[in-house]
Amino acid sequence: MSNEELQALLGSLTLEEKVGQLVQLSGEFFADDAEMLTGPQEKLGIDAQMVANCGSALNVVGAERTRKVQEAYLAKSRHKIPLLFMADVVYGYKTAFPIPLGFAASWDPELVRRCYVASAAEARAAGVHVTFAPMLDVVRDARWGRCLESTGEDPWLQSTYARVMVEGFQGSEPDLAHSGIASCIKHFAGYGAVEAGREYNTVDMSERRLREMYLPPYKAAIDAGCEAVMPSFNTIDEVPATANTWLLDDVLREEWGFGGAVITDYAAIQELVPHGVAKDCDDAARLALEAGVDIDMKTACYANGLVKLVRAGEVSEELVDRACMRVLSLKNKLGLFEDPYRDVSVEAEAELFLAPEHRELARRLAGESIVMLKNDRVAPDAPAKTLPLDPASSEKIALIGPYSDTRSLVGLWAVHADVDGVVTLRQAFEEVAPGRILHAEGCPLLEDESALGTFANAAGGDGGFKTDQLAEMRAEALEVAAQADVVVMALGEHPLESGEGGSKTDLRLPRIQRELLADVREVGKPVIVVVFSGRTPVLEDVSRQCDALLEAWFPGTEGPHALADIMFGRVNPSGRTAMTFPYATGQVPIYYNAFNTGRPEKTSGHSNRFTSRYVDCPTAPLYPFGYGLSYHSCRYGAVRLSSDELEPGGSIVVSVEVENASDIAGAEIVQLYIRDVSGSVVRPVLELKGFERVYLRPRESREVSFVIDEPMLRFWRRDMTFGSEPGVFEVHIGPSSSDTGMASFELKN
Ligand code: NOJ
Repeated sequence: MSNEELQALLGSLTLEEKVGQLVQLSGEFFADDAEMLTGPQEKLGIDAQMVANCGSALNVVGAERTRKVQEAYLAKSRHKIPLLFMADVVYGYKTAFPIPLGFAASWDPELVRRCYVASAAEARAAGVHVTFAPMLDVVRDARWGRCLESTGEDPWLQSTYARVMVEGFQGSEPDLAHSGIASCIKHFAGYGAVEAGREYNTVDMSERRLREMYLPPYKAAIDAGCEAVMPSFNTIDEVPATANTWLLDDVLREEWGFGGAVITDYAAIQELVPHGVAKDCDDAARLALEAGVDIDMKTACYANGLVKLVRAGEVSEELVDRACMRVLSLKNKLGLFEDPYRDVSVEAEAELFLAPEHRELARRLAGESIVMLKNDRVAPDAPAKTLPLDPASSEKIALIGPYSDTRSLVGLWAVHADVDGVVTLRQAFEEVAPGRILHAEGCPLLEDESALGTFANAAGGDGGFKTDQLAEMRAEALEVAAQADVVVMALGEHPLESGEGGSKTDLRLPRIQRELLADVREVGKPVIVVVFSGRTPVLEDVSRQCDALLEAWFPGTEGPHALADIMFGRVNPSGRTAMTFPYATGQVPIYYNAFNTGRPEKTSGHSNRFTSRYVDCPTAPLYPFGYGLSYHSCRYGAVRLSSDELEPGGSIVVSVEVENASDIAGAEIVQLYIRDVSGSVVRPVLELKGFERVYLRPRESREVSFVIDEPMLRFWRRDMTFGSEPGVFEVHIGPSSSDTGMASFELKN
C-alpha cells in the first residue's frame, strides 16, 4: 500500500477502530476455535468492542492457530486490516540456540546472524510477524536474572551483536514482506541497571552514564533498521520509561530519528499507577500516548480510556492518529495487506522446525559459547590436562548431577522452544563413549523450589524431597564416582532462578549441589564440573573443588552435543566470557570498564587500608571479562603502533604478533582495548574497541592489526557534547581484559 492509501485507510476508521489498533491482547483472548473469548475480557475489564477490534496478538503462534485466528478476525473486520502477531523469539523459536549471555562469549557475530536468520524462518512459518527481540540491556549485576537475555556488560560488543541480530531477523527492509520477521528491541532503556539487581526495580544514573554505557546498543539496533521498540519497566530519572517523554520523544524519535512503532512491555501502562506517576488508568493512558507509546500490551488502559479522553478533549485525536498510523505502517511493511498469511504453513513448519541445518548451527554456536574456565594438569608434573577426555580410551566416566540427564537446557526465555527436541548430556556422552558412562543424578537442582513460581518451559515444583530420598541419591552418586576413572558433574541453577523474575541475592550454586560436589571430590577422582546457568554465578568454591570447569550457560537444543564435542576434544573451546564472573556476590555490580577511583588498590600511594578494596574479599573478579581457556595456548608479542601520534582526520595502525605456541589448532579472540588516560571527565580503565577471531594452525604466527581513528575515541564530555579530547591514550591488546600488552599514542589537536 502506498502512503496515500494508508492515510486514506486511517481516515476511514472510526475513533474506536483507531484505538483498537493500539490494543494488544494475549493468547487466552483467542480461543482455539478462533472465537474471541469473553472470560479474560471480563478479568481485564476491557470493552468488548475493543477486543474484537484489537490490532495485535501477543504470543499467539503456530501456523494452524494463527491462520484460524486471522481468518476469523478478518471475517468480522469492517476494513480487513489484518491482525499483527507478536511473540518472544529471543534466542530461537523451536530450535533453541544458547542464551544470549552464552552466545555473546562466541565473539562470532556472523554465526549469530545466521542463527537469527534461522530463528526468523522458523517463527515466520509459524505465523509470527514481530519478535520482541533482541534484548539489549547492558548488564553489570549478576543478581539480575535477566542477564540471561543480554549479550553482556560491554556496550561496544553488545552493539555489534545488536546489529547482526536485527539484520538476521529482518533481512533487508524491502524484503521484510517476503522473508524474515520484524524486530522489536527491548527494554528501552537501562533496565540492566535495576538497583540491587532486583527485578522491576528503580534505575537511577547520570545522563552521561546512560548515554555512555547503556544507550549505544539500542542506538545500534535503531541504525540497523529495527521496526519497533519496547520501553522498559523501570524508571529513568524517576519517570517510568513508558511515560518518559525525554526518553521516547526527545532521544528516540527526535535525536535518533526513529519512525517505527513503540509497544509497551506487559501491562506497563497500567503499572504507571502503582509506580505513582498516574492517578488512574485513564491518566496512565494519556501519559503513555503523549510520551509516544503506540501499542498497549495487555491492559485495558488504551482500550477503555482513549476514546473517552479524546471525546472529553483531554487527549488530542491527532496523537491517536499518529500512533495508529505507525501500527498500520508496520503491518504494511510486513506485507500483511497483500497477504495476511505471509508464508505461514504447516508444511514449512515441518520442514524448518529443528531442521538438521538449524541443529547444526545451534551445535556450532553452543560450541563457541561454552567457556572453559579452568583446566589443570592431571598431576602437577604431568604434561596432560584434565580435558579433553580421550574418546578412544576404556576409562569409565561417572556422569553425575541434576543436569546430567535432562532436556531442561533452554533457559527461561526460549518460550516456544521444542524441549522434546533437546539432547541430554547423557545421550551425547553415550554417543561418543558408548558403554563407558556411569550415571547418577546425585541431587535435585534445589531442595525447595517453592519460591520459584512456574513459567513456560521451566516449572518449579514444590521440592518436597524427603531426607532419606536425598541421602539415597547422594550415596548412589558416590558409588558411581568410586567406580569411575573420572567424574563429570553437571551442576547449575534451576532454570527459574534466572530470566524474568529470577533475581537472587546469593550467586553461588545451590547448597545441595555444592555439598554433593564436596562429597564427590572426597572420592579422589579427577573432577570436571560443567555449570548450566543464566548468569555468571559465583564459582569460587566450585572452582577450588574441581580440576576442570566449563561454563555451559543454558546451551539450547544442541548444547550437550557441543559439550561432548569439547570435552572429547573434537572442538577446541574458544568461548570468552562477555560478563565478569564475580568472586563473591558482595562484589556486584562488577565490570571491567570501571573507573580507576582516586585510590586504586594496586597503584595508590596510600597505605593499603585506605585504598579502594574490600577487607574480606579480593577486589578482582574470579574470571574477568573476555576470559576463557582453549586447548591451544598463544603467545602475544609486543603491541606496536604505526605512529605514536594521531591527527584528528587520520588513523594509526596497531599490531601484535600472535603465535599459537601449541600443537593444537584453534580460534583465538584477540581483543583491543583503549584507555583515555586523562579527560574532562574520568574515563574507564579500559574500553573494548575491537576484536578479531583468528584461527591459528599449530605453531602458526599471525600479525593481527586494528585501525585506530579519532571517532573511536569520542565520549560524552563534561559539557555533554560528544567528541574526543586531545591527549594520551593507551592501547591494550590481549586474550582478555586482564591480560594485555600496552603501547600509547597521543591524539593531537
Ligand atoms: C515481559 C517481558 O519483560 C518482555 O521481555 C516480553 O517481551 C513480554 N513480557 C512479552 O512476553
